[in-house]
Amino acid sequence: MRPQEIIKKKRDGAALTRAEIGAFVDGVKNQLWADYQIAALLMAMFLRGLDTEETGFLIDSMLGSGEILDFSDLEKPKADKHSTGGVGDKTSLIVAPLAAACGVAVPMISGRGLGHTGGTLDKLESINNYNVNLTLAEFKKIVCKCGFAMSGQTAEIAPADKKLYALRDATATVEYIPLIVASIMSKKLAEGLDALVLDVKTGAGAFMKSEQDAVKLAAAMCAVGARRGVRTEALISDMNQPLGEFVGNALEVYESIKILRSEQNETMSATRELSIELAARILILSGICNNLTAARKKCEDNLRSGAALEKFRENIELQKGDARVCDKPEKMLEANVRQIEIRSAANGFVFAVDTKAVGEAISMIGGGRTKTSDKIDFAVGFAARKKIGDTAEKNETLGILYCRNRNQADAVREKLQKAYKIANEPPPKTVLIKQIIN
Ligand code: URA
Repeated sequence: MRPQEIIKKKRDGAALTRAEIGAFVDGVKNQLWADYQIAALLMAMFLRGLDTEETGFLIDSMLGSGEILDFSDLEKPKADKHSTGGVGDKTSLIVAPLAAACGVAVPMISGRGLGHTGGTLDKLESINNYNVNLTLAEFKKIVCKCGFAMSGQTAEIAPADKKLYALRDATATVEYIPLIVASIMSKKLAEGLDALVLDVKTGAGAFMKSEQDAVKLAAAMCAVGARRGVRTEALISDMNQPLGEFVGNALEVYESIKILRSEQNETMSATRELSIELAARILILSGICNNLTAARKKCEDNLRSGAALEKFRENIELQKGDARVCDKPEKMLEANVRQIEIRSAANGFVFAVDTKAVGEAISMIGGGRTKTSDKIDFAVGFAARKKIGDTAEKNETLGILYCRNRNQADAVREKLQKAYKIANEPPPKTVLIKQIIN
């Protein structure tokens, strides 16, 4: 089957068959299709749509492009969480060790930054020498040893997603429900899970701007999970402002370790709250706790006792990273970085934050990619000090930009300042967790 025939069929709006979608995924995996042909079909899918049947074919083919992990010899429930992508969204770094400390095995396959959103793999790579490119054998060994491992899509696990994910990022074809469902669920179903908790983001910094679309995405993923025998639940969570305090790879690891060390400040509290909720739901779906109060308490206890921090330390050592950051999170903060205050243009209340603009600003100065080959600058980022509902006086600090030089500061200072809408009236109250879908 020639790529151009399949592209033409979708370009003209027809539904693709299982064989055609299979040929596409095979072409991606085995480099039989050129990047421009893959990108053309992705755009045709984005513009012309994929129906439920085609989405199912895509998931099947992507899942079939690699191996499905078998942890049947491991006598623990296997569960994971995945986010649809946000700004400052670092909960995986807390949820994975926390759930592992509570007795769950977490084989976490993650992605890199996508569009204006950050990616767990990039964050982990900001820890000196941390290896996210594990072989299947290494990945399994680490899960069995310390309860969790975090790796990228490999030649063996979800290989087609690795390529598609990068090309979607570079061709503005991310924000489409069937492609997101196929990307996330093909990775997660390959993990051989009993349970899956999804964090579906909604709002200004999410791919799903409206809560209604977030619910649609959540319901589609829960249905796929249920059909494949994985107990799946989704939280719809707020992404109308950066989550917690920091945006940027190394800075987000810093915040996560501060929370694992119970040293968080008030600005970081949303990160902690959402992480506990996601981990607690994993404990329920995994059968470790039978009610939410007990599950939340178990998570709180494992954070407070330092058990989750010790799991993180063990994991960093096993993935060859410098685990001393667990004792000194300040090691994540590079000295050779300028801190520039972003100040309020007016007196009033922080009414809204253009969270996508914040993510884009950090990406523009090297915190993310514009081409798949771009190298990330782990040290740059932003501290979102003022939160929605806070008062701000003219010239008061809204946040701190972490950048390398004056040119970078000049390039994004105004974008960041304008991202904050200051109004005379207080905004309606924000809710972090909006709905639960299962
Ligand atoms: N996360 C993924 O893994 N894939 C997407 O398409 C979006 C977010």
